[in-house]
Amino acid sequence: MSTPFSSASHTAPRTALVTGAGKRLGREIALGLAKAGWRVAVHFNTSEAQALQTAKDCLALNASTPATDPHQFIFQANLADEVATRNLLPQVVSQLGPVHAVVNSAALFEHDDVQSFSYANMAQHWATNTGAAIVLAQALHQHCQARGAQAADAVVINMLDQKLWNPNPDFLSYTLSKAALEAANTLLAQALAPQVRVVGVAPGLTLTSHMLADDKFQQLHKLSPLGRSSSAEDVVSTVVFAMHNRAITGTTLLVDGGQHLMKFERDFSLM
Ligand SMILES: NC(=O)c1ccc[n+]([C@@H]2O[C@H](COP(=O)([O-])OP(=O)(O)OC[C@H]3O[C@@H](n4cnc5c(N)ncnc54)[C@H](OP(=O)(O)O)[C@@H]3O)[C@@H](O)[C@H]2O)c1
Repeated sequence: MSTPFSSASHTAPRTALVTGAGKRLGREIALGLAKAGWRVAVHFNTSEAQALQTAKDCLALNASTPATDPHQFIFQANLADEVATRNLLPQVVSQLGPVHAVVNSAALFEHDDVQSFSYANMAQHWATNTGAAIVLAQALHQHCQARGAQAADAVVINMLDQKLWNPNPDFLSYTLSKAALEAANTLLAQALAPQVRVVGVAPGLTLTSHMLADDKFQQLHKLSPLGRSSSAEDVVSTVVFAMHNRAITGTTLLVDGGQHLMKFERDFSLM
């Protein structure tokens, strides 16, 4: 299959690090990128077996990758730990060679509200959801400079959330950490140009959680101006598009069936 990376300027395989790729949206993004011709470095924290399965499935999808041990494509790091996060991209580079993209999909999503808010909970969300994404963008930029990358050679995708445009006070620390990441999206795009583009992708309610029964999820998924929120395929195709379109930086693509245009009093999982 011809991809934007099979052009003359990009004959070598291009590698993307996807965080939190053992499960759920991170796994779907990893598979979508593999289908589009990318080599995928699969990050995980606790889901090692699932990460290995994602790596195997990515290798099976990517015909340009010669048969390789999938263990070489999985990378463990607790993103709340700054040292571990700083070591992550250099480990990928050392194992797989040049890296051209980071998808910051891993996230901490623990409930709190103004009554239960604490410095500790905020700090955990900040470190995992905001600090780690910035450190990985910084590391990608340093890596690009070290290898003399051309303009727009690399890209960071920050997974955001439609609820930033349709706020409610539930999941206070999570929301604040993503709001800070949305602000960082602009600042990073300014600071890391010209080599590194930075793009946000903000899904609506896409996958259910342990807090939502299936029938409730189906009902809430329909709650949008378009009659359906985002599917995993919608989110993946947007990430792939943002990674391939070399003119996009410093903006966010909302993929939510228009949910951000509505007003919800509570988070989906508490409605
Ligand atoms: N799912 C949705 O409907 C939805 C809607 C809007 C926005 N989003 C955004 O899309 C992204 C993906 O969503 P998701 O539902 O797939 O996420 P998720 O299931 O809540 O979390 C994805 C992964 O994050 C990793 N993670 C959590 N804490 C970590 C830590 N301290 N260090 C390293 N990894 C850590 C976990 O990896 P391990 O399992 O390996 O520990 C987990 O599998 C998130 O950024 C989320 O905010 C999702």
